[in-house]
Amino acid sequence: MRTIGLFALSTFLFSAAVTAVVPDYIPGGDNYPNKVEIKNETKTGFTIEYKRYYKVLTNNVANRTYCLVGWGEGTPVGCNSETTLSTPVKRLSFDADSISVGPFIELLGLQNKIATAVHEQNITSPCIIEGSKNDDNQSPDVYFSNRQEKFHVAFSGNSDTLGPLQKAFWLVYLGAFFDMESEAFAAYSQIEVNYNCHKEKLGKTSTPKGISWTSFDPVAKIYTINGDQYYDQLSQDAGGKLVLNNRLQDHTFKTDMRDLDLLSKALNLGEYIIDISDPNVTYQTWYTNGHEFFNPDSNDAYPVIKAIVNKQVYTMNGLLNSFGASDWVQRSSARPDLALMDLIKLLYSSAEVPDKKIFPFWISQFENVLDNRRIIQAESYGNCSSMMTTASAQAICYLSDGGSIHQPDLTSGGKAGISVGVILFIILTACVGTWLFRRHRRNQRHNFYRMNDLQ
Ligand SMILES: *[C@@H]1O[C@H](CO)[C@@H](O)[C@H](O)[C@H]1NC(C)=O
Ligand SMILES: *[C@@H]1O[C@H](CO)[C@@H](O)[C@H](O)[C@H]1NC(C)=O
Ligand SMILES: *[C@@H]1O[C@H](CO)[C@@H](O)[C@H](O)[C@H]1NC(C)=O
Ligand SMILES: *[C@@H]1O[C@H](CO)[C@@H](O)[C@H](O)[C@H]1NC(C)=O
Ligand SMILES: *[C@@H]1O[C@H](CO)[C@@H](O)[C@H](O)[C@H]1NC(C)=O
Repeated sequence: MRTIGLFALSTFLFSAAVTAVVPDYIPGGDNYPNKVEIKNETKTGFTIEYKRYYKVLTNNVANRTYCLVGWGEGTPVGCNSETTLSTPVKRLSFDADSISVGPFIELLGLQNKIATAVHEQNITSPCIIEGSKNDDNQSPDVYFSNRQEKFHVAFSGNSDTLGPLQKAFWLVYLGAFFDMESEAFAAYSQIEVNYNCHKEKLGKTSTPKGISWTSFDPVAKIYTINGDQYYDQLSQDAGGKLVLNNRLQDHTFKTDMRDLDLLSKALNLGEYIIDISDPNVTYQTWYTNGHEFFNPDSNDAYPVIKAIVNKQVYTMNGLLNSFGASDWVQRSSARPDLALMDLIKLLYSSAEVPDKKIFPFWISQFENVLDNRRIIQAESYGNCSSMMTTASAQAICYLSDGGSIHQPDLTSGGKAGISVGVILFIILTACVGTWLFRRHRRNQRHNFYRMNDLQ
């Protein structure tokens, strides 16, 4: 054995620790030894409450409550039979309106439990496509979907009212259906550690760079400057700042003279424009609908938009599947670490990232995205049977000062009501991690992420 990846080992240890506990039903006892109790939805948008043989899961974003009943028991008193499900779930499915659950599914390694083959043209993850091709024809026990019907569950991990890490925390929500919430919490913690480490490494920037997040609806002919929590937090964490117009409620602009004038003034408050329109909206469409206001060569009466003149207009749709579906739309909620590094790299080109070859990840210059867009390749997507190991490696981060590795924030876990067992486990992983990290520093020249070195 040489050195192995710290997170690869911790994931491995954790699976071992969890599978060792196969709980039997104890009537009248506490049947959930590994709780991830979440009582305050303010931060996460959902809560998990543990009862003796079932869990009450509330999605506060969609305002829906589900009872997840274990050990084949019936509908508990106080639960609605329409929204009661048996756990652990064996087969799942998801509707087109809940496509962003896919990348969460693969982080927990659950893609083989997808009941029916997905439509390849709509899915960007090769792991989800492969995993769904099992032919055991069993119907799903749960559908992630916005439909309000029996066995349909609302998944809101892609809601822009949540911050980047809050979105990723919905891994725990997904995990609850499979009685895997403690694994999900550990996996989330790794993503959080990496995210916070990159954020901290960047440090406080004296003059955060202004970013406008735009989108254009070509049918209604309306521009929007997005001001949701997600864009605000992500911009800040990447050393930028969200730029909004000063109309308090309305961030939408029609393509008439008056609105375009207001829009161009708002866009001029920042140095960067990042567009998140549907991928079928081309730069040409985005640009020409702005008429003279977007054209720096036009009449001097209009203010020029700095970002357009300086060619600082970007799109997040730079990575697609071969049918043109945008990976950003599907994967960014589950992977705030990649979104953060992508943005840091754009704003601070000398910032360090773990593997230069994979960045830019989603971001691309909007004007020539059609020439430069990248197509997802199954070979380089990562090992589908251990996606979390790939995810950790893609975003691994060391703070250079003092050589100490960034550790999970246990106090925040405590506040969220995470059970003691999980906390202890995370301390253990962090210690093992620190030890491995020291070894790693002594063995810098060796290949670091080889799970098969474990023999
Ligand atoms: C929930 O968390 C928020 C933000 O962290 C805090 O302001 C609020 O007081 C908490 N509510 C309860 C009931 O603990
Ligand atoms: C949430 O749903 C409940 C019933 O399911 C309803 O009584 C309540 O008004 C809803 N709240 C909001 C904010 O929509
Ligand atoms: C795939 O995407 C297309 C266009 O976005 C949509 O019309 C179709 O319903 C989707 N199919 C499925 C199965 O999600
Ligand atoms: C672009 O995609 C959106 C949604 O996926 C659809 O509503 C719209 O009609 C499409 N526009 C064009 C020009 O294909
Ligand atoms: C993928 O990961 C699994 C489990 O960690 C491992 O057994 C397998 O050898 C890996 N496959 C490749 C191609 O690296």
